[in-house]
Amino acid sequence: MRPTVFKDEAPLSIEYIPARLPHREGQLTFLTHLFRSLLERPGSTGQRVLITGPVGTGKTVIAQRFGLDIVRAARERKIALRYIHVNCRECKGSLFAVLRKVMDRFEERFPRRGFSSEELLQAIMRILDQKNFILILALDELEALIEADDSALYTLTRVQEDRVTEPIRLSLICMLREVKYLESLDRSAASTLQKNLIELKPYSSNELITILKDRVSIAFKDGVVQEDTLEFVADLASMNGDARYAIELLWRSGKYADSEESREVRPEHVRKAAAAVYPTLRGDHLASLSINEKLFLLALSRTLEESDQAYVNMGDLERVYKVVCEEYDMSARGHTQFWKYMRLLSATGLISSKPSGKGTKGRTTLIGLRSIPASAMRECIESALEVFSTDARRYSA
Ligand SMILES: Nc1ncnc2c1ncn2[C@@H]1O[C@H](COP(=O)(O)OP(=O)(O)OP(=O)(O)O)[C@@H](O)[C@H]1O
Ligand SMILES: [Mg+2]
Repeated sequence: MRPTVFKDEAPLSIEYIPARLPHREGQLTFLTHLFRSLLERPGSTGQRVLITGPVGTGKTVIAQRFGLDIVRAARERKIALRYIHVNCRECKGSLFAVLRKVMDRFEERFPRRGFSSEELLQAIMRILDQKNFILILALDELEALIEADDSALYTLTRVQEDRVTEPIRLSLICMLREVKYLESLDRSAASTLQKNLIELKPYSSNELITILKDRVSIAFKDGVVQEDTLEFVADLASMNGDARYAIELLWRSGKYADSEESREVRPEHVRKAAAAVYPTLRGDHLASLSINEKLFLLALSRTLEESDQAYVNMGDLERVYKVVCEEYDMSARGHTQFWKYMRLLSATGLISSKPSGKGTKGRTTLIGLRSIPASAMRECIESALEVFSTDARRYSA
């Protein structure tokens, strides 16, 4: 067997939920206090919380850690409390898809069609009543839901208000990168969310070091990651204060160390890793994109790469998108759908968009990429599409 610097790679994966969250203890305690009444007087109160903060500041992991803890505490008190974490981006911003995921956790055989989201929500509430369940619904990457459907959050916050005499069964934890997305919402839905606000700041280099040290001790063999390597990783990641980038950089550095059969992870491995990891392009994000969103991104990165401009306008992009669709034997989606892709990709941080300024004839929207070279984005998408076209060939064979 080849030698390796790793003891166990799992704690470096995105799914891993650490036992403790250094520098986020205060936020966890706040959540515990806020939700205490759910355990003390189940059915008498509900809560709504909003967690905001830039990429990799711990929004998702705080909610997940809290979810595991409160479910355990409820079990000890024999309270039927469920915590369900749904990613709105993966649901393409559809409230129906979000509620479908919730329903699947209660009743897999529930009919898949013939319901509106409101009816599905009512059906979920009935099940909660029948089983005497309390539900904490965690809505991650809420910007996708808001961008796609501005009444979705209103529907969710109103359902409890319509049940005046019934026990309160639904609480919400929402996660959002920027509060500005709330501006487009119904005022009351936005303000009930902002009442309990947890605002996370980017991590400093020292904070990242503590977080990394915990992972190093469980993921790497003793003594393979020296202090200066760790500091170097933390320094690079502290530019955005992004813990995900720091952890991915560390993991990738370990992989480079292994490929060179080195017994230690050294700064040179970190430099190599930094050239290959882009903070804005996450593997899990890429994997959940639809084929048409990938074609959109391919058109965008090709145009930017060829023109060497910072932005491209919507009209030009749409033309290239149609060519790209032809190349991959896909029928291009219409203008409205194309516009939706743009808004969703922009809300979830993969691309940036802004209205054109003076000097352009008529107003249009300009689209660009965030801190990733267009060539790197193109390569990633092309290889993701490669898998797609091989699969398509296999199915049509
Ligand atoms: N305080 C912390 N202690 C330990 N690990 C942390 C901490 N904060 C974040 N992490 C880890 O860093 C990574 C990124 O965190 P997380 O996914 O929660 O960020 P996020 O704010 O949800 O980012 P995004 O906006 O991209 O969704 C995860 O692997 C998480 O486990
Ligand atoms: Mg997250």
